Amino acid sequence: MAASVPAVSDLVAAARRQFARSFGEEPPQVAVCAPGRVNLIGEHTDYNQGFVLPMALPLVTVLVGSPTLSQDVTIVTVAEDADEPREVTLSLAEGESALSPGVPRWANYVKGVIQHYRASPLPGFKAVVASSVPLGGGLSSSASLEVAVYTFLQQLKPDGGDDVAKALSCQKAEHTHAGVPCGIMDQLVSILGKEGHALLIDCRSLEVSPVPLVLPGPLILITNSNVKHSLASGEYAVRRRQCEEAAALLGKKSLRDATMKELEEVRSRLDDVIFRRARHVIEETERTRQAAEALRRGAYKEFGRLMVESHNSLRNLYEVSCRELDELVSAALEVDGVFGSRMTGGGFGGCTVTLLQAHSVDKAILHMQERFSGTATFFITSPSEGARVLPL
Ligand code: ADP
Ligand code: GAL
Repeated sequence: MAASVPAVSDLVAAARRQFARSFGEEPPQVAVCAPGRVNLIGEHTDYNQGFVLPMALPLVTVLVGSPTLSQDVTIVTVAEDADEPREVTLSLAEGESALSPGVPRWANYVKGVIQHYRASPLPGFKAVVASSVPLGGGLSSSASLEVAVYTFLQQLKPDGGDDVAKALSCQKAEHTHAGVPCGIMDQLVSILGKEGHALLIDCRSLEVSPVPLVLPGPLILITNSNVKHSLASGEYAVRRRQCEEAAALLGKKSLRDATMKELEEVRSRLDDVIFRRARHVIEETERTRQAAEALRRGAYKEFGRLMVESHNSLRNLYEVSCRELDELVSAALEVDGVFGSRMTGGGFGGCTVTLLQAHSVDKAILHMQERFSGTATFFITSPSEGARVLPL
């Protein structure tokens, strides 16, 4: 059975109840939400200035709150998986020292976004966060938290409304306050997501082209392996450096500008590991372009084939998959009506994404459950809107 996706209004209601418990009877004045994402194809290409093809999810982070007359910020999360304490107070009057990263870790995302917010001065505020994006599951709960906080701050002190600059500020918060040198994909799709569309993002120009993905048509099934290996963040930074090394050796600003022919030419001067990393990035960028084209034509079989190629490349060349993800992908591919399946996100755990015919979904879930050595969670999803202000 697939897990049901909670309605945004139910999350708002839960956040409001907590707001009343934490801050008293007066209701919050502002509510916003920002979605998590799943990446259909284009993995580990964003920080190489290549292409990605993610979509925003109906799973969202909601934030309700009100400005105050003081310079204090009090923020509460209802997420049980967040580290304690789940209520944090800091004083904006203390400047940057109040915003430096520390514990609890979850508050670092909030502090980072406040620090990199593009307008000042910000008033104090009190707020509650509630989310349906699983924390640490590879569906970008962190980016959705950052974007929700930023969107909330925009209601308190307008910043000019440049969406790309907003994404870059949220990305910077992740770099400085979570220590993850992530690319721009998660924040951009959480802001610009469009119902019924995946987004083809050129991570060099940051140009975003919506690609229709509408029902009736195939379904997007997300399977959370519910594992996260501790390698994840360290290995991410290692991959980034390896790509930079390859680009430098090729005399390019980024691997986006390199071709396989050029890579083959310098092969003898490259360490085999660096060669394989670069090959993944160069081929994945091209695959992503082709996949967006296939999706536009409704060529789902071709799209699915590219997904599988992407997974195999992430497993064999980029080495960011793991046993659990490989098991889930193999199991999905054994089911009739499945077009393609692959790991999604940074890797070393988290989720797979499967494109399949609607009538095959029950069979696919059952089969994956049977074949998987762990306990998986399933979400049937469709492309959803990006960050938005909600009625209260
Ligand atoms: P992902 O972004 O793939 O879900 P990360 O490990 O990058 O995984 O980020 C997860 C972290 O983000 C959580 O451990 C927590 O610190 C923070 N976070 C995300 N959503 C929330 C939330 N609703 N409340 C508190 N913290 C959150
Ligand atoms: C994520 C990261 C993204 C992207 C992705 C791999 O964890 O936040 O920016 O690089 O991994 O495609």
